[in-house]
Amino acid sequence: MRVNKAIFPVAGLGTRFLPATKAQPKEMLPVVDKPLIQYAVEEAYAAGIRQMIFVNGRNKRAIPDHFDTGYELEHELEAAGKNELLAMVRSIKPDDMDCIYIRQPKALGLGHAVLCGQCVVVNEPFAVLLADDLMVGEPPVLAQMVEQFNERQASIVAVQEVPKEQTRRYGMVAGTMVNDRLMDMTQFVEKPAPEDAPSNLGVAGRYILTPAVFKEIANVPRGVGGEIQLTDGIASLMRNEKVFAYRYRGERYDCGSKEGFLQANVELALAHPELGAQFRAYLKTLEL
Ligand code: UTP
Repeated sequence: MRVNKAIFPVAGLGTRFLPATKAQPKEMLPVVDKPLIQYAVEEAYAAGIRQMIFVNGRNKRAIPDHFDTGYELEHELEAAGKNELLAMVRSIKPDDMDCIYIRQPKALGLGHAVLCGQCVVVNEPFAVLLADDLMVGEPPVLAQMVEQFNERQASIVAVQEVPKEQTRRYGMVAGTMVNDRLMDMTQFVEKPAPEDAPSNLGVAGRYILTPAVFKEIANVPRGVGGEIQLTDGIASLMRNEKVFAYRYRGERYDCGSKEGFLQANVELALAHPELGAQFRAYLKTLEL
């Protein structure tokens, strides 16, 4: 089994980022010069995935427009001889990549958003990428996970160490370490209090799942916050199939929070080939 499809749930309300998210999804917020969703799509493409499935909510237009052909813009750039910009705009959607859009009628939770993708995924393993978790890794984090999947042929969730006082923000896992990066999972709890967390490993927004998870999500009752939780669906899947947690190599920026979003902007601007040196010099002039 190969992973050729990715679901991008982009139907959340993004309340932590209001007012910026009043009329656009938070996944369209730019880090330096690229929207979050484009980073995530590029990561999936680099992992060999060619079918991108977006689960949209209200304010649905900006994302399809971003991955659509921009005839007028391309025409203007061509006429002005701005060939580099033209090539860059065209590369947003490579020819061998398909974009499929599904509507999540109500923001009933991440599990429900993933379930909305079932009609396209049907019976294949698939990736889930939460674009508000911006991942920087070499090789890219999803490519690391696809490599693990190819070997194990089982569901894998990305995890990282999280400080004890932050467990309420994460799905927390526990299990038996297979090697220094891979854990055979036995427990998966959504947003526990620090004293109830089964370990210090929390889930980041990258998953590779077998299609059996759909049946499990469809059957779980509403969980934390009254939402249909993906965590509960995966915890239920663990009773029938092996599920692994993979401690990825790389950095994660939680761009669903203002602090993480600002950190990502500063660090990616510093690493930017054109802006980096100038931006560093500017930061040094600030009296911090
Ligand atoms: P979050 O809980 O981070 O997103 O969901 P949110 O609800 O938009 O944000 P806040 O807390 O109100 O600020 C994680 C991911 O799942 C998607 C979101 O778009 C985000 O990418 N999601 C969440 C859906 O697609 N549908 C939902 O019903 C809930």
